[in-house]
Amino acid sequence: MARGDLVELAKRRGFFFGSNGAYGGTAGFYTFGPQGAALKRNVEDAWRDRFTIKEGNREIESPTIMPEPVFEASGHLDGFDDMLVECGECGASHRADHLVEAATAIEDAEALPGAEVETLIADHEIACPSCGTQLAGEEVESFNLMFATDIGPGDSQPGYLRPETAQGIFVEFPRLKEYARGSLPFGITQIGPAYRNEISPRGGLLRLREFTQAELEQFIDPETDEPPIERVADVDVRLYPATEQNADDGEYLDTTVGEAVSSGVIGSEWVGYYLGVATRWYDRIGVDMDRFRFRQHLAGERAHYAADCWDAESEVDGDWIEIAGFAYRGDYDLSKHDEYGDDAFTVFKRYDEPKTVERATVDPDMSVLGPKFGSDAAAVAEALETLAERDPGAFDHDTVEVEIGSGDDVETYELDADVAGFSIEEVTETGEHITPHVVEPSFGVGRTVQTLLAHAYRTDEVDGETRTYLALEPAVAPRDAAVFPLVTSDERLIELADRVAADLREAGLSVAYDDSGSIGRRYRRQDEVGTPFCVTVDRDGVEGDGAETVTVRERDSAAQVRVPVDDLADELAALRAGEPFETCIDRYGSVDTDVETS
Ligand code: GAP
Repeated sequence: MARGDLVELAKRRGFFFGSNGAYGGTAGFYTFGPQGAALKRNVEDAWRDRFTIKEGNREIESPTIMPEPVFEASGHLDGFDDMLVECGECGASHRADHLVEAATAIEDAEALPGAEVETLIADHEIACPSCGTQLAGEEVESFNLMFATDIGPGDSQPGYLRPETAQGIFVEFPRLKEYARGSLPFGITQIGPAYRNEISPRGGLLRLREFTQAELEQFIDPETDEPPIERVADVDVRLYPATEQNADDGEYLDTTVGEAVSSGVIGSEWVGYYLGVATRWYDRIGVDMDRFRFRQHLAGERAHYAADCWDAESEVDGDWIEIAGFAYRGDYDLSKHDEYGDDAFTVFKRYDEPKTVERATVDPDMSVLGPKFGSDAAAVAEALETLAERDPGAFDHDTVEVEIGSGDDVETYELDADVAGFSIEEVTETGEHITPHVVEPSFGVGRTVQTLLAHAYRTDEVDGETRTYLALEPAVAPRDAAVFPLVTSDERLIELADRVAADLREAGLSVAYDDSGSIGRRYRRQDEVGTPFCVTVDRDGVEGDGAETVTVRERDSAAQVRVPVDDLADELAALRAGEPFETCIDRYGSVDTDVETS
């Protein structure tokens, strides 16, 4: 199925569609319809269950607008740019690096300087995709992807819509570490919207201007904290390391997480651990693992904060798309916020035993510094203290030099070394302040939803007719079940079907009710939106002296079992939690009667 077809199908069946259609539509914004909103919410719940609850992490919810200094510190203000080229003829904007990648064999044009991309556009005679005019001679500019806004009226403060949920976690680290009682490792998750003013949104949910991220920031002490790697060591993974991408005959590496970590292909045990956890999770929610891989970022492709990064990629309609990134962010984020913010973005690491260490200190004679340096005396004293810590040998000579000020305004002062009162003292220390490192699994929820739809799309033949259906996993399907009375002419069937639907809803299951058209058509309607089980109330279920029963039909196999109404909610809940339908058949026995034709 071509990507356009999937987007069309998503619209037709109520999964997602372009927003603001009554006002001409707004590129880069999508609304999730009733089926899509339920599917998305189920994906988020499944993610929360795995990456927050089962991993022992904690979830927060922070504002989506943040003040400018946050993004000065994070580097987004200066570095979160894409390459923009505008068509001189029709005015359309395009990602210059993407145009170059499409027209050449270059895979990471993003890493090239703008001038080189301009040359490539000219050399390859690249034309505007919108109107066909040659783009040679057009300037390639850096375009910052953040949406700017004003916080408050009047002398308002500049702010930005967050381009990643992660920053809402990093800026609150000083408080979050207290909730973790100052002890590493700990992980904080957040699921919520992120905003990027993408130059050319495309592909349904693939490149949006507002999208949902599910992110985990794992704070670790890089020297001592280790993940429980043994839990995922035997998970099979398909890796596409940077070395293989650069080789002429590069190949996938089919291996296990344990082997990839011990051989150093995956450089960080923590990254390896989360690749293993994510592999199992993607498999569980219905990603086709034959159309899935982890691709390591090439050197020029890595974000400004990442020391190493692997992307989870899925194949959708012939293209590989990035659905999540697993980055080793080091101490980049917390160091930056420590430098720019007012609070301490460090944790105190207690030693096993107190340590006695030698510490260089100064005790400057201010009665000499005052008259000699006037208003700069305090700054000179502070500079002496810093120098003693950094370079105690500087005090071995008769005179010592210090610099005060910054940038172009630096003053060098010389003074007699004995005025500094330099000495080496022995002190006992119980620990030290360290900046934690961050390992970040970062998932795009919309791209996951689009992958699930693409991988679940199936056609087969039932009763001599072609049927299309979505083989969505029960754990994420928009509905848990649909309930039908076989015929509407029998009051007993309507009464029981109404009661069954109401009871299932009370039990927390999401249930559709349909009594219109032939039973076959009703099955088809549910198959098309991926409802995994259809419950039909027929005469056999209400007649006789025994307990009331219904038939339960499984979407993919069309197999049926007859289940007592009293067991139904528990049985459907078990099926949603992953129980195979065969277990249900073993328990109740399959139904010979094909209710589709009755
Ligand atoms: N905090 C790290 C971070 O934001 P990213 O690779 O820029 O990393 C993470 O984004 C994930 O968010 C991506 O793997 C992708 O699934 C999703 N994503 C990024 N930009 C997107 C966009 N414009 N539209 C839809 N999803 C997007």
